[in-house]
Amino acid sequence: MTDAYFTQNRLNWDDRADIHIRDEAGGYRIDAFLAGEDNLHDIEHDEIGDVAGLRIAHLQCHIGIDTLCLARRGATCVGLDFSPRAIAAARMLQQKTGLEARFVEGNVYDARQLIDGLFDMVYVTWGAIGWLPDVQRWAEVVSSLLKPGGRLYLLEGHPSFMQVDEKAEGLRIGFDWRNPPDKPLTMSEETTYTGDTAKIAHPVTHEWLHPLSAVVNAVIDAGLSIERLNEHERLAWAFAPWMVAVEGRRRMWVTPEGLPKMPVAYSLQARKL
Ligand SMILES: C[S@@+](CC[C@H](N)C(=O)[O-])C[C@H]1O[C@@H](n2cnc3c(N)ncnc32)[C@H](O)[C@@H]1O
Repeated sequence: MTDAYFTQNRLNWDDRADIHIRDEAGGYRIDAFLAGEDNLHDIEHDEIGDVAGLRIAHLQCHIGIDTLCLARRGATCVGLDFSPRAIAAARMLQQKTGLEARFVEGNVYDARQLIDGLFDMVYVTWGAIGWLPDVQRWAEVVSSLLKPGGRLYLLEGHPSFMQVDEKAEGLRIGFDWRNPPDKPLTMSEETTYTGDTAKIAHPVTHEWLHPLSAVVNAVIDAGLSIERLNEHERLAWAFAPWMVAVEGRRRMWVTPEGLPKMPVAYSLQARKL
């Protein structure tokens, strides 16, 4: 059954990759990126430190902009994604910029077979592990890619906030706090999160909410030592129509005044022992 979930998700991401690389709504800031601007948000910019000279594996790299931003900061990068259209877009951007990165098409769970060598950093950000049914297997893949002393940088939407029903008014919990592999959250969205009005031909997706404890324990069980766990009040996408945009290095979204403050994202840094 998992394969059927992956197939539907991949078709959906192929459609979105085509929309995102056209960037008609400007959400991916591709013109600015090609003109030399860095596209990382404040949170990862403040947390990852100097990456110059590092070998980085970027899992679920989408159209490769963040991968190429890391390359622009002096890292040697490999980006992996299972959407052939996302990988084609990433390769096109790499050729246009000439930055030190290559892109591999494949499922995260096959990353160890698809990518050679060991890495100083595995980089996973903003809307990645929710597409994976088994977080323990994911952590084992991450660990297998890291050299001893190498680190994981993970930055994600907060699972408690992701329980909110984004279509309801205000903070209403709409979803279970976790999804077993065979019981994903199945959704159908006709448009993507960038504000672009183009219709997605394959709108159905399957996602899994992974509690913070499941992620932390999976990383520990995979042989990494947790160095930092932070929670944040800003998110990289407009999760719900009532969220409020705030400017920074890149636009981010917060809950509006009048609602109780809560963490909407978290980041985790862990080192391979
Ligand atoms: C929201 S995007 C991640 C965005 C990313 N942070 C970036 O740098 O732009 C999610 C990506 O995960 C990819 N994806 C989803 N499930 C996957 C899987 N099982 N294996 C590999 N890639 C996957 C999708 O194709 C999509 O490009």
